[in-house]
This record gives sequence, structure tokens and C-alpha cells, in this order.
Amino acid sequence: MGVLKTYGEFLPLTPDTPSINLGEGNTPLVRSQNLERELKVGELHFKLEGCNPTGSFKDRGMVVAVARAVEAKSEALICASTGNTSASAAAYGAHLGVKTFVLVPQGNISLGKLAQAMMYGANILAIRGNFDQALKLVLELTQKHPLTLVNSLNLHRIEGQKTAAFEIVDSLLDAPDLLFIPVGNAGNITAYWKGFKEYCELRKARKRPQMMGFQAQGAAPIVLGHPVENPETIATAIRIGNPASWKKAEEARDESGGMIGSVSDEEILEAYQELAQKEGIFGEPASAASLAGLIKLIRCGEDFSQKRIVCIITGSGLKDPDTALRAASPPQELEMDINLIEDALGL
Ligand code: F0G
Repeated sequence: MGVLKTYGEFLPLTPDTPSINLGEGNTPLVRSQNLERELKVGELHFKLEGCNPTGSFKDRGMVVAVARAVEAKSEALICASTGNTSASAAAYGAHLGVKTFVLVPQGNISLGKLAQAMMYGANILAIRGNFDQALKLVLELTQKHPLTLVNSLNLHRIEGQKTAAFEIVDSLLDAPDLLFIPVGNAGNITAYWKGFKEYCELRKARKRPQMMGFQAQGAAPIVLGHPVENPETIATAIRIGNPASWKKAEEARDESGGMIGSVSDEEILEAYQELAQKEGIFGEPASAASLAGLIKLIRCGEDFSQKRIVCIITGSGLKDPDTALRAASPPQELEMDINLIEDALGL
């Protein structure tokens, strides 16, 4: 049905907003089959945002931002992106026939995301710089030209993304005790917190969760308390050194009694594989930062045995085949001989 129809009453829509939908939202909330027991968590759920139409949570906010841009007769959309925002903007731009410009950091965007933006027909520039520098340029361009910014500084993005918090409450019939979420530009943690607060005010939830955000260790400005000039991490989606919604992420952390921590690339890769091999959930590396954060806290002695926890899996693992092929074992090659095959399979 789409986010605009399902949650329209909570979104900044007008009677003139086009009612569009590419099938975003209503993503599965899956109960853990193995890690819950192994990690001794009371209840562990994964929210599979990779099931959105372009394979990430960005679609929830993009549908609102692009619908409003079309309503305002915008000539073109523009964003800086580590990949997922550009794929989503390009898809909704194509759906509504609006030109889409994207700036991505050259060499640091995963293959699937680049392929998506190219296929949807966006005008893509791979700049020789990082995401933070690309965003700065995009902001300058929006000052000079009549372009609609569709980064999460566009508040329609945040409004749309908060619907994921609504879905979690609608399905658990309350907020979880803790929500684990990767943090990059910090729009998503801001959006979830807004959603949980609104549902609580409307008495659709009795409580609000502690917001547990995780950045990659080489790109952890909020944890360090200062911008990181040259952010580095294998999780290219969150390779960000100066998040646009920094203050709002701190508010979410402080108002909820949560935390923003960091996880190393090794911890991210471990969680990435655990999630795939123990749960059958293939998220992209940045997505695994939520689970990596949970595992890290448990190893440090935290007891979550009485807690209900949701980890947000923000994007699909299919977007980054290179990292997957490097992380997992390659297939064994063999002649077409049944005896050899039986031997190889240990049958
Ligand atoms: N997970 C994935 C898969 C992402 O693509 C992003 C951000 C995040 C987590 C972090 O979310 O920025 O709201 O804190 N991707 C942006 C992009 C930056 O350009 O696609 P955030």
C-alpha cells in the first residue's frame, strides 16, 4: 500500500500531494532464531529494511520528499550519497519523471548501489572526495539553483522514515526496550526517535525505547566529539565524518537514556556473517553495525536477558557483492563426476 497511504495522517501531506507508492514500508519484523538464545537476550527482533523497493530504508523518506517536490513543481532532485540515498532518489525520480542529480564519493560506493542509480537513469557524478565534501557541494548548488535537496536535511525525509518506528510498535503492540541502529549522517536515528515519541504521545505505545546508535570506529565523530576529516570503514554506507543531524542524534541519545558507540570493521564483519549464517538475513555491512553494537555490549558484560530488543537492518546485502565475496568462502570447483561430488560433499 505504501507509506503515504498507510501513515498519511501522520505525514506532512496536502490534498495536492501526489499519492505515489513503489511498495515502500511494511517491512518484516523477524524474531531471531539463534542469536537471541546464544546472546541471552530476552527477545530479539530484526527489522528488515532491505525489503524496501530499492533495498534500503531510504525509500520511506524519499517517497514523501519526492511527492512533495513534485507537488511544488520542482525541476530536479539532488543529493550527496554513500549510495543508498542516490539509488532511492533515482528510483522515485524516475517513477515521477523528475530529473535526479547525485554526487557520490568516487571509489567508495558499493557496486549494487551504483548500478541502481545508473539503471534508474540518474545523472551521477563521482567526485574525488568523501561524502561530507559531496554534501557541502550539494548544499552550495541548492543555494544557487532551483533544485530540491533530498538528503535527510530535507525534513520530509525524516517524516517518512519515522514510519518504521510506527510499524515496530504496531507489530509488537509497544515500543521495544532498546533499539539498535547504525548511525551515519544521523537522519535515521533522528527519524526513529521522532516516530517513537509521537506514538507515545498518541498513547499507541506505553514507553519509548533506549536509542542505541552505532558508528564505525574509523568514522565515529559523535563518539569522539569532533568531526573526522578522513573517515574510513569497510561499511561505506556510514563512511561519514561530519553528520548533518549530529545534534538531533545526541538529543535522541540523551532523551532516551541511550548511547552512541562505535564498532570496529572486524566487529562489523563478524556481525555481518553471524546475521547471514545464523539467521538467514543478508544485510549490507553498515546494517550489521546494529547487531555488532549489541554483541559488543554483551561481551562487555551487559545483561539483556529481560529485555526486548530490535536491531534495524538498514539495507540489503545484495548491494555490496564485493564485500560478501571477500567475507565468505568461495565455492569449490569440480569436474562433473558424481563420485567426486559425493566426496566433496562428504556423502
Ligand atoms: N545504513 C545504511 C545501509 C545506509 O545507507 C545509511 C546511510 C545508514 C545506515 C545510516 O543512516 O545516515 O540516517 O544515519 N546512508 C546514506 C546514503 C548516508 O547516502 O545512502 P543515517
